[in-house]
Formats: sequence, C-alpha cells, structure tokens
Amino acid sequence: MEQYIIKGGKALAGEVTIGGAKNAALGILAAAVMTDEPVVIENLPDIRDINVMLQTMENIGAKVERLDRHSVRMCSGNISCMNVENEYIRKIRGSYYLIGALLGKYKQAQVALPGGCNIGSRPIDQHIKGFEALGAVVKIQYGLIQAEAKHLTGSHIYFDMVTVGATINVMLAAVLAEGLTILENAAKEPHIVDVANFLNSMGANIKGAGTDVIRIKGVPKLHGSTYSIIPDQIEAGTFMLVAAATKGDVTIKNVIPKHLEAITAKLEEIGVQVEEFDDSIRVVATKRLGHTQVKTLPYPGFPTDMQPQISTLLVISEGTSIVTEGVFENRFKYVDELAKMGASIRVEGTTAIIDGVDLLTGAIVSAPDLRAGAALVIAGLVAEGYTVVEQVEYIERGYEDFESKLCELGAVMEKIDANDEKAVRKFKLKAC
Ligand code: EPZ
Repeated sequence: MEQYIIKGGKALAGEVTIGGAKNAALGILAAAVMTDEPVVIENLPDIRDINVMLQTMENIGAKVERLDRHSVRMCSGNISCMNVENEYIRKIRGSYYLIGALLGKYKQAQVALPGGCNIGSRPIDQHIKGFEALGAVVKIQYGLIQAEAKHLTGSHIYFDMVTVGATINVMLAAVLAEGLTILENAAKEPHIVDVANFLNSMGANIKGAGTDVIRIKGVPKLHGSTYSIIPDQIEAGTFMLVAAATKGDVTIKNVIPKHLEAITAKLEEIGVQVEEFDDSIRVVATKRLGHTQVKTLPYPGFPTDMQPQISTLLVISEGTSIVTEGVFENRFKYVDELAKMGASIRVEGTTAIIDGVDLLTGAIVSAPDLRAGAALVIAGLVAEGYTVVEQVEYIERGYEDFESKLCELGAVMEKIDANDEKAVRKFKLKAC
C-alpha cells in the first residue's frame, strides 16, 4: 500500500496542465466497441480506471493498441464474448457503460455489477428502466446485470432523477435502435456532451446533448473515428482549490473555462482572484478567505465531485460555512479525517456546518474515496507539520501524476511505501 507524506505550509505557484476527462473517457471507450472499424481516442488520462477499462475490453476481444501514453487505437470487430466479468471491472463505476454499448450493438450484454466510490447507495434502476423501455429484458443475478433484446426500438424515456450514468448508458443503447428515442430530464454534464459528440463523429444522430432533452435517431451502423477527449473539469477544479487553499498563484492549462464557471463563481465569492483565458485559468489567493454556502447539484450547478475539496478550503476560511450534498447520500466520510487535523465540522444529514479555524495540523489520515482523498491532500498542503495520506490508490483512480504535478508547483511531498519507515525519516530530513 502506498501513501503520500506531505510537509504543509507552502504557497504553490507555477503552471499545471490538465489531462483528459475520466468520466467522459469511460463512456467514450465503451462507445468505441459499437463499430467494427478502427477508432483512435486521444487525450485519454493515464489513470487506473481507464487502464482497467482498456484491459476489460481486450478481455472480451477488442484489439487495443497503445499509440502513446494518452492515445489508443481500438478495433472491436472481433468481440466474441459479451460477458464482462473480472475482479478489476467490479472496482470501477464506468464498466456499466459496456452494458449499453454491447446491448446496443449485439443486443446482448452480461456485465458485473459496477463498483466505484462508496458515496451512497448508487442504484442503477434508471439504467434498467431505459434499457427495458427500448425493448430489452434485464435481469440481475449472480452479481451480474444481464440484458438482451430481440430488437431495440426507440422510446420516450423520462428519468426519475438527473443521472449521468443512466443518460450515457441509455444513449449508448439507443444509437442503433430503430426509430426515435427521447431522453427527458437528462444529465447535462460536459462529459455527456463529449460522449454524444464522439458517437456523432461515428455517424450517430444525437441532438440536444447538454440540455435536459436528448433526441436520438437510430442509425443502421456506426463507422470509425478519431476523437480527442475534453479536459477534465474536476481535475482542473481540484487544482483551482489547491491554489486557493495554499494562498498560491497557479495557472491551470488545457481547460474549458465555461465548464468551471460554478467553481470560479464560488471562489470569487470568498475572495479568490480568478482570471480566465481561452484554454487556461489563473487562480490567485493572497489573503484569508471568507465563508459561504454551497449546495452541490447536477451540472451546471456546483459539482458534487468538488464537494470534499471546497469543504476543505472552507475549513480554513473565516467564519461559518454550510455545504449541502445535493446528489449523493453519504459523501462526508472524509470529515472525521479532517477533524484529526483540527477541522471543526458538524455533519447533519447531507449538510456540513463548517466553523473556519486558523490552523490545521498534520496527522495520519486515510482517503475514503477518490475526491475525498484529493481533499485530504489539500488539507495536508496547508497544515502545519507532516501529513500522511493513506490509501492513495483511490486518488490514483482519477488523477494522473497527482503528486508530481503538485511537486512541480512547489509542494513538499512524496509517495512512499506504507511500511517504509526509512523513507519517512529520509523525507522528513530532506524536508527540514
Ligand atoms: C457519475 O456517477 C460520476 N462517475 C461520478 O463521479 C459523479 O459524482 C456523478 O456522475 C454525478 O456527477 C462516472 O462518471 C464514472 P449519477 P454516476 O447516476 O453515474 C442516483 C468521480 O469522483 N441514481 O449521476 O453513478 C444516484 O444514487 C465520480 O469521478 C439512482 O437513484 O452518478 C445518485 O444519488 C464519483 N438511480 C444520483 O442519482 C440510477 O439508476 C446521481 O447519480 C442512477 C443514479
């Protein structure tokens, strides 16, 4: 098991370049199996969830050729097995997009129930509702989701709640269905638009992605494509929060500022200076920041995947702030870890009441999930003394080269083996 050891207190400064969006890439990789022609995907993030997905697609017969660290060529003409079941695939969330893709193309799919961050119950009833509306028979048994259909026919589907996963999954199942599918109450995240744009580049007929009504006219088949994934909105937002929390001056490159508007607005509200350029954003904080209220909502609201990070920033801001988690039921597991560092947070249901403190002090903390892990790193970067963040494998699911990007901005941190006492001593000596 690896861990980060961090010596806090430094203002981070410099430039960081953002990678491709994890939550777009997972849907796009699944969509790539829907054509027998070669597909080239560029700007893929080199992170564990993506590598697990690529391995899984090879396991079912897709030919995957790494062109460079961030590009692959895939050929799915030889897919023979519709049964996606391996120990790794159960650890990630995006595996379930293979149901929509395989069902859409082969009219059958059998995929292990999805894993992913433990931030709530995360049912898949809306995915199933959409598949069944298109004419599939769906069963959950032996830990697998089994879907099959003699024929897929377009349908008018109204999601009970805004769901990123179901919007993407049902869109995948509908692109080759006969006739028109209308998705109402659809999710509008940038990664939904990216998956739709990729499918349209393969010859699909999707209109309205990015709005709450998506219209999909089924087409007979899809052709190959070369496509580059959009920058990761949440990785960019995380580095914005790093700059703000450490009172730094960081220029974040390869971003789409529009995707960051909710984060920018909230940061400016509490006193952070944010300067937007065409494909970069500069974040500067020089003084103690103020308090505010945040409620996480589906896009274009404040992203739930930025909730642990903004809460950590508010822990060291002036006054009392309120953070309400509006998407998942159980996304405050990191609060106990922050309390070990001196934070004053009270959680009541899905709301956290945060009393700003002057100082956090280093401690040994454990990452409960991907974004909470990133938030604990932010806490370590501002705390006095040394912080050890355990379970960094969660963080590496969604952030490429996280510690080296932070070190390039001046962070004093290292990734070490959990049992390597010598490495801890060596780091502390070096960091003095
Ligand atoms: C995606 O999860 C992301 N994961 C999550 O990012 C992100 O937090 C979430 O969307 C919201 O933006 C991937 O894209 C791989 P949802 P997903 O379906 O699709 C309920 C990260 O850190 N719901 O939009 O699982 C659900 O319980 C991860 O990168 C149902 O009730 O999220 C939740 O309360 C964490 N039934 C809400 O809807 C369903 O069938 C939103 O879930 C589906 C969802």
